[in-house]
Amino acid sequence: MADIGKVLVIGATGHVGGQVAAQLAAGGTPVRALARDPRAASLPPNIEVVQGDLTAPDTLDGALDGIDAVYLTWPMLSAEIAEQVVARVAAHARRIVLLSSGAVRDDLDEQDHPIGRAHALIEQPITESALEWTFLRPGGFATNTLEWAPQIRAGNVVRGAYGSASVALVHEADIAAVAVRALTTDGHAGVKYVLTGPAPLSRIDQVEAIGAALGRALVWEEIGPEAAVAQMSWLPPDIARVVLSGLAGYVDTPGTATTSVREVTGSSARGYRRWAADHVADFR
Ligand SMILES: NC(=O)c1ccc[n+]([C@@H]2O[C@H](COP(=O)([O-])OP(=O)(O)OC[C@H]3O[C@@H](n4cnc5c(N)ncnc54)[C@H](OP(=O)(O)O)[C@@H]3O)[C@@H](O)[C@H]2O)c1
Repeated sequence: MADIGKVLVIGATGHVGGQVAAQLAAGGTPVRALARDPRAASLPPNIEVVQGDLTAPDTLDGALDGIDAVYLTWPMLSAEIAEQVVARVAAHARRIVLLSSGAVRDDLDEQDHPIGRAHALIEQPITESALEWTFLRPGGFATNTLEWAPQIRAGNVVRGAYGSASVALVHEADIAAVAVRALTTDGHAGVKYVLTGPAPLSRIDQVEAIGAALGRALVWEEIGPEAAVAQMSWLPPDIARVVLSGLAGYVDTPGTATTSVREVTGSSARGYRRWAADHVADFR
């Protein structure tokens, strides 16, 4: 175990960051969580919560005081803010674990995917800093399928595009488990972990798995890509189209699964059926 003191979790109210904070605290590592609105954060009482906002980098200095390592969620698109945030983190901490994305391509000078582009903007200043860094590059999150919750609460039919697309969605607890190892133990500096679930499963079978967890038979109804873009109202249409065209590619060729979760944590990645069981309350 490395000699790591307190960890600042940026994004602790999110899916992965919440797991990172909880798993660190459960393992006895002191945790401070950054939240834009600490009163709304509702984190366990053993986690210190401080106010801060990545879009106002000067709000990070107090949060970084006495911090050894940082877990960073990066929801921004600004290169300028990325440089300011990294400089502030490097002035206080010695280690950073970034929740990046499998969309980042190391073989391209100019990223061709908007999500890859956003994450490359923060990866670059980190690699140029004195920080000991680890990048987590997950593929699709199983939490993306929470998008079906309103339809499942309302009935037994889930409408979506590319139901035959098979992807090895990753459980947020597994991304977090890798993050915790990289934050608290040595041997992960300069490593980019591509993280997935254990095996691809089609979207039709994912819906069936949620039904099995609920004890109800759910039915997939295929809709066209443009109807799906309209349904994905939480994403700008151009990003929704990129996400859907990625899915289209997994209809004939299932997504690959990596073994990084098992290699880092010693435990196999949790499958989608396990995720559906863990989240059954979200679909009720
Ligand atoms: N979904 C996927 O399939 C996928 C795949 C690969 C990578 N990713 C990447 O994973 C990240 C999302 O992770 P997640 O699902 O764990 O997060 P999430 O559930 O979407 O939550 C977002 C977190 O970011 C925090 N946040 C947002 N704006 C902030 C700001 N200005 N200052 C400080 N904190 C801010 C929020 O905190 P407060 O609101 O409490 O302040 C919240 O904790 C994104 O960068 C995404 O690109 C996603």
